[in-house]
Amino acid sequence: MMKVCDIYKGAASEGKEKHVPQIEVHKGEGKGGKDIVKIVVGKDVPHPNLVEHHIVWAQLMGVKANGLVIDLGKVNFAPAYTEPSACFHVPLGDFKSLIATSYCNIHGVWESSVDL
Ligand SMILES: [Fe+2]
Repeated sequence: MMKVCDIYKGAASEGKEKHVPQIEVHKGEGKGGKDIVKIVVGKDVPHPNLVEHHIVWAQLMGVKANGLVIDLGKVNFAPAYTEPSACFHVPLGDFKSLIATSYCNIHGVWESSVDL
């Protein structure tokens, strides 16, 4: 039986430069000292942004110390109009790690994570 982890591609997969969502953590750098987390797809090598081939969405999840997973948000992108990056206000102290996923309409689902 196939599992969801079988379809996620990461830093070891071909084409990772364009697809893996990079997670940038900016502690206390938001307005009023809020923590900011930015997801960027294609930071090093821009991903195509055409109707025929584009990043459809990116999602951020947080894992709490007790293992509970929180869906922190998901952003849909409009091909040719919006670049595949998004910022979230996240109280970083509540989480032990962050996981980002992104979806390319041609190349599937990609993932990355950072420990806080
Ligand atoms: Fe792609």
